[in-house]
Amino acid sequence: MTAPIPSSIIKQHLIDPEICIRCNTCEETCPIDAITHDSNNYVVNPEVCQSCMACVPPCPTGAIDNWLKVLSDQTYSMDEQFGWMELPAQQDLPEPAAEPAGAQQPVAAPAVAAEAQEDPNADLDGLPSTSAGASVPPWSAAHPYLNLYTHKNPVTATVVGNYRVTDDDTESDIHHIVLDFGEQPFPVLEGQSVAIFPPGTDASGRPYHARQYSIASPRDGERPRYNNLSLTVKRVTTDYDGKPTQGVCSNYLCDLKKNDTVKVIGPFGNTFLMPNQADSNLIMICTGTGSAPMRAMTERCRRLTKEQNFKGRLMLFFGARTERELPYFGPLMNLAKEFIDINLALSRAPGQPKRYVQDLIRERATDVMGLLEDGKTCIYVCGLKGMEDGVIDALQHVVSQAGGDWAEVHAQLKTQGRLHFETY
Ligand code: A2P
Repeated sequence: MTAPIPSSIIKQHLIDPEICIRCNTCEETCPIDAITHDSNNYVVNPEVCQSCMACVPPCPTGAIDNWLKVLSDQTYSMDEQFGWMELPAQQDLPEPAAEPAGAQQPVAAPAVAAEAQEDPNADLDGLPSTSAGASVPPWSAAHPYLNLYTHKNPVTATVVGNYRVTDDDTESDIHHIVLDFGEQPFPVLEGQSVAIFPPGTDASGRPYHARQYSIASPRDGERPRYNNLSLTVKRVTTDYDGKPTQGVCSNYLCDLKKNDTVKVIGPFGNTFLMPNQADSNLIMICTGTGSAPMRAMTERCRRLTKEQNFKGRLMLFFGARTERELPYFGPLMNLAKEFIDINLALSRAPGQPKRYVQDLIRERATDVMGLLEDGKTCIYVCGLKGMEDGVIDALQHVVSQAGGDWAEVHAQLKTQGRLHFETY
């Protein structure tokens, strides 16, 4: 007879420092502030974490989804976690017998976190979701590859193009950067992201962390049938408080020359994905470089339309300071009106009132509602964090004005994977 398994063994929730791209999503998502970070790592406070799993689906890399068996009185402290360069090895402990009260133990896990999940019986229903968006992709989305390249084995890509896509004399220095992977597989879907390692070390001598960027090109390449992808990168010259600072990775990327090489990891992201039905509609809402995934999706649809494989409707709400600071303004304006319904919200256009995307959503309420009523419409929001609440308020207004129940519509959009946010 085997001895009873001690009930003091628990599964401690930990973040893998080798996979984490420090995007802050987990810290923002945690409803009880159990996650924090220093300049080195994101860590989970074992005293606070309730294993509610709210942070797991939004994590783009799956770094969040690590559970090590530990004795309940010997959990890894926050200080230990701050110092890690990699996760410690699993100690030789038996499986926990039963879930002790208050112990850290994974509950239901979403099937969509694919490669990062272990539970094959995971249920999509009843997911904890504290965010305004869905934690599942639309049902018809293609299955994404995730984490093919990690901190330990980044892939080297070659710069084949680097162009400024805002007017030269404007403050917004936004670049369209094309990376080629040659013979190395790097399959991506629209809405996914990659992370780039800037060369060099930080003030404490550690290599810089990778920075995450949304992919701006469709799945078959920036140039069709080439193994390349593009990124939309804004040169950061001030911090959040407006104080002058040089963004490490954005300046590195914006200064890259043709034939330079960069270290890339990814792909990441398993929910902000487009539907695959030919008659699905997309409402895309973005500001600035948040246009990257919208460009990818729009271009995918444009290519499909040419082959008569896309018959849905596209509606775009795009916020920028002025037309001249709106990335891809020229190419965007060349798209046919029958193909995409473009709404530009300019906040600093001389002689015009300040407009935000949410103002235009309100103005176009009837058309937005028309699309929302179609179960094949998905909504994507990408850009400044601040617009998240504004967009939700605007959508609420649209639905309420049409006599609908926003809480009901919102819940449905989330469970059906039809409302997605990526804000920063
Ligand atoms: P603003 O002129 O008030 O900064 P940026 O150029 O900084 O990336 O911003 C892109 C656009 O997003 C700008 O027009 C900016 O307006 C606008 N913006 C700023 N805050 C919000 C917000 N809370 N909701 C929607 N748009 C916003």
